[in-house]
Amino acid sequence: MTDQTMGEAPFGALLEDPEEMRRSGYEVVDAIVERWANLPEGPAWQGATRDHLQPLLHGPAPEEGRDLEGLLNTIIRDVMPYAGRIDHPRFLAFIPSSPTWASVLASFLIAGYNVFQGTWLESSGPSQIEVTVLDWFREWLRYPAGGSGVLTSGGSAANLLAIVTARETAGNPERGTLYLSGQAHGSLERAARVAGIPSERIRPVEADEVGRIVPAALRAAISRDRAGGLEPFLVVGNAGTTNTGAIDPLAELADIARGEGLWYHVDGAYGGFAILDPGVRPLMAGLERSDSVTLDPHKWFYQPYETGCLMVRDPALLERAFRIAPDYLQDAEWGPRHVNFCDRGVQLTRIFRALRVWLSVQRYGMAAHRAAISRAIALARGAESRIRELPELELLAPQSLGIVCFRYRGGGGALAGEELDDLNRRIQDEIVNSGFAMMSSTRLRGHLSLRFCVLNVRTTAEDLARVLDRIAAVGRRLDIQRSKL
Ligand SMILES: Cc1ncc(COP(=O)(O)O)c(C=O)c1O
Repeated sequence: MTDQTMGEAPFGALLEDPEEMRRSGYEVVDAIVERWANLPEGPAWQGATRDHLQPLLHGPAPEEGRDLEGLLNTIIRDVMPYAGRIDHPRFLAFIPSSPTWASVLASFLIAGYNVFQGTWLESSGPSQIEVTVLDWFREWLRYPAGGSGVLTSGGSAANLLAIVTARETAGNPERGTLYLSGQAHGSLERAARVAGIPSERIRPVEADEVGRIVPAALRAAISRDRAGGLEPFLVVGNAGTTNTGAIDPLAELADIARGEGLWYHVDGAYGGFAILDPGVRPLMAGLERSDSVTLDPHKWFYQPYETGCLMVRDPALLERAFRIAPDYLQDAEWGPRHVNFCDRGVQLTRIFRALRVWLSVQRYGMAAHRAAISRAIALARGAESRIRELPELELLAPQSLGIVCFRYRGGGGALAGEELDDLNRRIQDEIVNSGFAMMSSTRLRGHLSLRFCVLNVRTTAEDLARVLDRIAAVGRRLDIQRSKL
């Protein structure tokens, strides 16, 4: 053994001195705490072009290491500001996320301990925590005993696992077709593509004027396909669409799927956790009869990104679809009560995501999580009322869960078509570029719609009122300018 292989430099140079670890660790904590404390005063969104960023950040990989303090400063000053502040109280675009402090701390612990959570052998304690967290989710969904699942990187990954499990359970039909609402999230189509189901065997079924799948149209599509020699195997319902927050008639979909012998998956990535709100629970009736449900704790359960979940009524079917038992993992068999989570999805090496949820629930309690969800819904309802009050604005879809879709009425209501879409696009651009609020748009029945998604515990009724007032004011100004042209 040479001197170099005995742990001396340069190999030891990848290790930090404990004092420097503490110092830099505190610096990172301070940066995050400061960011959180000042969120409302800063912009909700800030972007920069490649021309701006490349000179600041691009360069060859350095041969020698650099001072950590300087590097952290660069990251905090030149990298992190150029991103949507998704947890800003006026970040209302897409689906926001606002992780709890406990879940952020858990993320640090997860990275620092770097547990391999693919097998029970290598992660008994962490796997027990995942079993426990999944059992909480099972209870909230009112799934029967025995239901469980797996934590994933997000809703897209969970939808992929569901589609593959449905297809495998159906015996891998050669001409298998799947059915979803025309309002379903794009990740389902992508997942189908990954699973080898071509787009011509995906049936987007008509949705009604508020975005709920029309059950009669679903029945008709299934019969038509059967008559044409196709092999329906999966119905997907939405527990909250991304566009409008619409909840499909989940019980009717359960009846259809059962009656037809099809797998029934519900995409609750956005809205699934709203089942914890007593007012929403009845609207989700039928969810408990599904075969699988996608949940996304990194959305409406206040966790950091890459905390998603697939729940299944019968985990044996999930394991049948994904389990591979190579010789080199033969030591990892602890028997059926000791889950090897690598058997429930595509990841062998997995991080210990469950700790985030577990620590958050233990630290703040379920009452606080439920209250945060209910509060977001109440705030969205309040925004809807204000839109109705403001003569310049009109609703394009009723508030559902935390989502409200609306637009500015141009020309005192006389403007329509492309011109009206264009005016609303310009209002949105002005507000987003000012950094005051971040919002996104969508298309509803062919029209451009502005859209709020309220989720963050920091958002207040005043924030929403100020953004709506500003939309009306910017709209008035742009409308006057337009009419003078
Ligand atoms: C209804 C729905 N399904 C699936 C997804 C995809 O989830 P993820 O972004 O976590 O992959 C989203 C994301 O917004 C969603 O709203």
